[in-house]
Amino acid sequence: MATDAATHPSFPEKGVAWNELRERLEGLGENDVDWRNKKSAVYVFHPGEDVLEVAKEAYALYQSENALGPAAFPSLKRMEDEVIAMALDLLNGPDTGIGNMTSGGTESILLAVKSCRDAAAARFEERALDLHGANLVLPRTAHLAFDKAAHYLGLEIRRVDVDADFLADPVAMRKAVDQRTILLVGSAPCFPYGLVDPIPDLAEIALAEGLWLHVDACVGGYLNPFAEREGVELPSWDFRVEGVRTISADLHKYGYAAKGASTLLHRTHEQHAFQGFQAQDWPAGSMSTPTVAGTRPGGAIASAWAVMHYLGAEGYRERTRRILTAREKIVAGLDTLGLRLLGDPRLALLAFGPAEGDDLPIFSVWKVLHDRGWFSGIVQNPDGIHLMLSPSHEEVVDTYLADLADAVAIARKEAAKTGTSEGAAPTRYA
Ligand SMILES: Cc1ncc(COP(=O)(O)O)c(C=O)c1O
Repeated sequence: MATDAATHPSFPEKGVAWNELRERLEGLGENDVDWRNKKSAVYVFHPGEDVLEVAKEAYALYQSENALGPAAFPSLKRMEDEVIAMALDLLNGPDTGIGNMTSGGTESILLAVKSCRDAAAARFEERALDLHGANLVLPRTAHLAFDKAAHYLGLEIRRVDVDADFLADPVAMRKAVDQRTILLVGSAPCFPYGLVDPIPDLAEIALAEGLWLHVDACVGGYLNPFAEREGVELPSWDFRVEGVRTISADLHKYGYAAKGASTLLHRTHEQHAFQGFQAQDWPAGSMSTPTVAGTRPGGAIASAWAVMHYLGAEGYRERTRRILTAREKIVAGLDTLGLRLLGDPRLALLAFGPAEGDDLPIFSVWKVLHDRGWFSGIVQNPDGIHLMLSPSHEEVVDTYLADLADAVAIARKEAAKTGTSEGAAPTRYA
């Protein structure tokens, strides 16, 4: 591998003044996406400067504290307990509900799958089945964090095609279930199209087959309840659906907390008992941890706790209304431009592409938008542009639509000139 002094400096002999370092840090961000100007529709959630400030200050107050030690930091234990109680209240958790904060959606999903696997162990032993290679059945649209979890935990993934509306297909999923299936997954909403799967139908299968149903509400956990209060109709998706065993819901997405904050909620204490890890065979005494991490950053917990209290339901509803307004304007704009919305997204995520039979090179459209500073993801099969909207997008939606109209015209002209309708797929969402 080539070494480059600029990217691989040697360890500094002398310290550098903070003023200079701050300047350098700001300089390093020069080529980053301009998310503060609301031009990114992925990776960052912009709820307004005031919320960002609360998240930052709360993080800084507890940046050195460590939730690995609840006896040393009862403050963090209390904040985590309060965050979980608020989450269970919001997601209609039963009195038996319990949960933990984790570092993000991927960790919440990993722990849900781990809990499910370990809970299934006794059942598999009874039936003389090998738990290694037991399988998870999920729609094709479920997040790849499940594949990561399966990879780490020695399980098999069975992705099942979605229906013509891009929703989980319960009939096809049921067919994929066999005696070595342990978990079903539904998303609320899924990342690629922003659609809420038919959770009650999946729960019916889970109850009939004795399976664990996980609802991935990493995106929707702190958005759906407020969208519903604003009149958005969604299929039932939370703990009100009997059969839902765990829900993952990220605070660093539409909870607007600093990054490193998600929640994993369980229906009962019994199933939660399978989540943790305990060991003592070393000189430093027994260690028991509820999540993957050893050290758990206090800042992420404090930030989430503070933002939830700062916004309250009223604040979240106000941010949600702005997202819904932006989405409605975009959907109307797509219609005017003859573009096709994929499925019927009612929340903050959506994907769109050319109408059926139209050979518009959609990735060339993406490229023109990208060159004008707009950053977002893509989807494939069918090809399209992906948007993950924030409240602040309401302020720039008209400019985006004007640029989109230009981009479509430019891409069509280019395609006519070169005689090709194939735009190269840009780098995908990681
Ligand atoms: C539906 C869904 N689940 C899980 C995740 C993973 O979350 P994280 O990136 O916080 O690990 C994401 C991330 O975008 C997501 O959209």
